[in-house]
Amino acid sequence: MKKETVAIHGGYDTDPTTKAVAVPIYQTVAYEFDSADHGAALFNLEVAGNRYSRISNPTVAVLERRIAALEGGAEALCVASGQAALNYAVLNVVAMGTNIVSVPQLYGTTYTLFAHLLPSQGVNVHFGESDQPDAIEKLIDEGTRAVFCESVGNPAGNICDVEALAVVAARHGIPLIVDNTVATPILLRPIDYGADIVVHSLTKFMGGHGTTLGGAIVDSGRFPWRENARRFPMFSEPDLSYHGLTYTEHFGDVAYIARCRSVYQRTTGAVLSPLSAFLLLQGIETVALRVERHVENARRVAEFLAHDPRVEWVNYTGFADNPYHTLACKYLGGKACSLLTFGVAGGLEGAKSFYDALKMFKRLVNMGDAKSLACHPASTTHRQMSAQEQAKAGVRPEMIRLSVGIEHIDDILADLDQALGAARAQRSALLAAE
Ligand SMILES: Cc1ncc(COP(=O)(O)O)c(C=O)c1O
Repeated sequence: MKKETVAIHGGYDTDPTTKAVAVPIYQTVAYEFDSADHGAALFNLEVAGNRYSRISNPTVAVLERRIAALEGGAEALCVASGQAALNYAVLNVVAMGTNIVSVPQLYGTTYTLFAHLLPSQGVNVHFGESDQPDAIEKLIDEGTRAVFCESVGNPAGNICDVEALAVVAARHGIPLIVDNTVATPILLRPIDYGADIVVHSLTKFMGGHGTTLGGAIVDSGRFPWRENARRFPMFSEPDLSYHGLTYTEHFGDVAYIARCRSVYQRTTGAVLSPLSAFLLLQGIETVALRVERHVENARRVAEFLAHDPRVEWVNYTGFADNPYHTLACKYLGGKACSLLTFGVAGGLEGAKSFYDALKMFKRLVNMGDAKSLACHPASTTHRQMSAQEQAKAGVRPEMIRLSVGIEHIDDILADLDQALGAARAQRSALLAAE
């Protein structure tokens, strides 16, 4: 499927009043009404405009429009973090006693949300044995309200067959929700392959500089909520919490995102601040260029590691023998993501020695920063899981996850080389002392 080119540049939203080219930061809580009638019309959603920044804000709206355009969606809602986006995206389609079906390879906190928090609120999550469409389809029942996957799993690096999962979800009259944080719309646009809802942590590649948390939910505008009103009455029946508004009638194709804003953001308030939106907007102006360099550097890193005897294995979908290589060719145009994992020789202790010896790579749990980052998932992001759960999520004790940055490749390789050397030396010293 051909990707459209989306222009993102500073002049996109030149302010008509001030002629400012940069997006103004509307740091305000509320917006003045012209009159009582104007206020009433805004509250009745009869006229467009802002009332209060927990519902909408003009700076955040620019970010929402750009992300929707990048993903090929109809409309977006930006919120305080990727986790808030995931929580709202799911809550918007479920009710107590219903369930969603998810692939097992998930970001650690998403797993916690699905395996613990949602069930404690009466919403079950069934995890597939694998990310294969048939493993997902066999778990769908009358109570299922969505299929969920990460297009590229963090940290497992698996690539989901989004098109096949979309077919499965559509066959059962439920939406496919895809977390596209790792791939970014620069490499993959899930809506082009039939996804209904796309979720992002903007904190990562989209923002790109490790300064700002943010999340987005993008509505494709394509899911037939009215046709599936038996499962999703909240979109087609009057909402008593919003003076009897019916979302599909009032908002048409974008009923999903409108309800997300009016119900969840308005009442639980995980709002993205205008300043954060401004910072994230600076980031997405360069995301296409950064991703290109991330991808190129990651290939060089993967090749270096694969040929090094101090490394046990490398999980990089750019290699022809990787089980996900065919999907990497189909969905990422062969441009494997810069998030990759590898096993340091010497097991848990080897991985820890390597990790402690890194000099340029930052030891932290973020990814998608312009700077190179490293993480030891078994002791951090996936620490809350049992060994069995870790194995299912693709996490091993000797595993290091790299988010390869955009620094000069010689500097990146030199740091990895010296840290592998330090791990080897420590291991030799330990063996000699035994
Ligand atoms: C794939 C994925 N989704 C969601 C999140 C959560 O994002 P945030 O930290 O912005 O809440 C992360 C964080 O690492 C992630 O990797």
